[in-house]
Amino acid sequence: MSTWANLGLQDSASPLMEQLIFFHDHALLILVMITVLVGYLMFMLFFNNYINRFLLHGQLIEMIWTILPAIILLFIALPSLRLLYLLDEINEPSVTLKSIGHQWYWSYEYSDFNNVEFDSYMVPTNELENDGFRLLDVDNRIVLPMNSQIRILVTAADVIHSWTIPALGVKVDGTPGRLNQTNFFMNRPGLFYGQCSEICGANHSFMPIVIESVPVNNFIKWIS
Ligand code: CUA
Repeated sequence: MSTWANLGLQDSASPLMEQLIFFHDHALLILVMITVLVGYLMFMLFFNNYINRFLLHGQLIEMIWTILPAIILLFIALPSLRLLYLLDEINEPSVTLKSIGHQWYWSYEYSDFNNVEFDSYMVPTNELENDGFRLLDVDNRIVLPMNSQIRILVTAADVIHSWTIPALGVKVDGTPGRLNQTNFFMNRPGLFYGQCSEICGANHSFMPIVIESVPVNNFIKWIS
């Protein structure tokens, strides 16, 4: 989870998030190079003393500074498309979790396992344990097995919500009357925190998500 002064991305807990971080760093590097170059050129304009009377056109330089940015954009667009399709790929999920957004809590259904279902409310600040995280901890956590492909089906019962877990690279809107699908793979155990990220009303900030990533055996024990 994110803690104080963490301005960057959270540590990844899934292979897809790892790829997203690589892409972010790659895009940022290109951005810095462009900013430095353009900044230098603009700064140098201050020292232009207009001495070239016969300079009316420059076919070659215009050709270069048209095509070069197009090529640079390709270096961002192609990896971005690769990631987009990679995120959308579903590889034989072993568990399916259905999450339904409500004003203002999430409810979950494990349809594969005798329809286990429960609501997950944020723990109010005055009822928080000493080691609890304010505005992030919930009364009933989602328990899911690590090292397995997990499918998430997201929908909502009232208004649009968004099921978002930064460490897993998952962000899906829950829309009334629609069923959205995504998937992830957790490669380490731990607690992964998320929040609703679609402005859904007065208590939008108070419907967090907590995933407990556990070894498969513990998950089977929990579900039965
Ligand atoms: Cu639900 Cu914001």
